[in-house]
Amino acid sequence: MRRELRGKRCLLTGASGGIGRALANALAEAGCRLMLTGRRSAALIEVVQPLQARGVDAHYYPADLTDPLQRRQLLEQTIAQLGGLDLLINNAGIGSWGHFDTSTPEILRQVMEVNFFAPVELTRLALPYLQRGDQPAVVNVTSMCGRRGMPAWSEYSASKCALVGMSEAWRGEFARFDVDVITIVPGLTNSGLDQHLLRKEGRAEIRFDQGMTPEYLARRIVAAICANRREVVIGREARQLLWFHRFFPRLTDWLIGRRIRALYRSNRSTPALFSSGGS
Ligand SMILES: NC(=O)c1ccc[n+]([C@@H]2O[C@H](COP(=O)([O-])OP(=O)(O)OC[C@H]3O[C@@H](n4cnc5c(N)ncnc54)[C@H](OP(=O)(O)O)[C@@H]3O)[C@@H](O)[C@H]2O)c1
Repeated sequence: MRRELRGKRCLLTGASGGIGRALANALAEAGCRLMLTGRRSAALIEVVQPLQARGVDAHYYPADLTDPLQRRQLLEQTIAQLGGLDLLINNAGIGSWGHFDTSTPEILRQVMEVNFFAPVELTRLALPYLQRGDQPAVVNVTSMCGRRGMPAWSEYSASKCALVGMSEAWRGEFARFDVDVITIVPGLTNSGLDQHLLRKEGRAEIRFDQGMTPEYLARRIVAAICANRREVVIGREARQLLWFHRFFPRLTDWLIGRRIRALYRSNRSTPALFSSGGS
């Protein structure tokens, strides 16, 4: 099936962030009618006003998606403004960078609330409307960490793995409603995630500025929605890492473990469990 985006009624979360802004523009370009959300009203207005000036049917409603009442109000506003729903794009997310042993239960809960419970519960609310939609779909923006957990991203990896798993289960379940489920698996993107991390204590150098642009990612997401792809990995290093992990999982673990030991060797206070470079 080829999905025609012209006139589609779309609720996009995380529209005040780097990828969400680019996605809002790309969806508008493709002819979608939009409800945009995030917590920051000022940032949402910056996205929505230029679209409205171009004649796009675009609206915004600020909401903290971890709050059940605000999720419900967001959906009511969406239906009131757009008259129904064809696409729900769960893009909002947060990250936390640092090792599990120095993290806290609060960080784990916050990451799971935003990256897993919020999109899942928003989808629960949206499903009855999507069932009456035109070529309806749920689009979940996950991460390459959702297909291969990465050190210093343990909470984030767990939340994205959970969303990938939920998407796979939903794909079968929602088939009976003719609601498609599209999983987006992006790699490193030069957006705002690194500026909004709950903590920033990892050691390996991560060059977000060398990641793909949000505009490129947004074009690829729109293409995936039109082509009705089930799951799409976007970004060269994500494709390479996931390919390598698929065929050489033990070697991937060993290489990552060696790298982490090297990063922490300088100030290790307890005796090494492994000899240098060995397993
Ligand atoms: N950047 C990357 O390298 C990368 C790679 C793979 C996947 N991703 C995923 O792509 C998505 C977008 O990330 P980004 O890079 O654009 O990050 P970003 O610039 O930090 O944007 C995050 C968005 O999520 C929203 N958000 C966060 N907490 C929220 C809450 N409690 N309630 C409602 N909205 C909330 C933010 O809105 P407010 O601040 O206004 O609330 C913002 O619009 C995320 O799911 C992320 O995990 C990013």
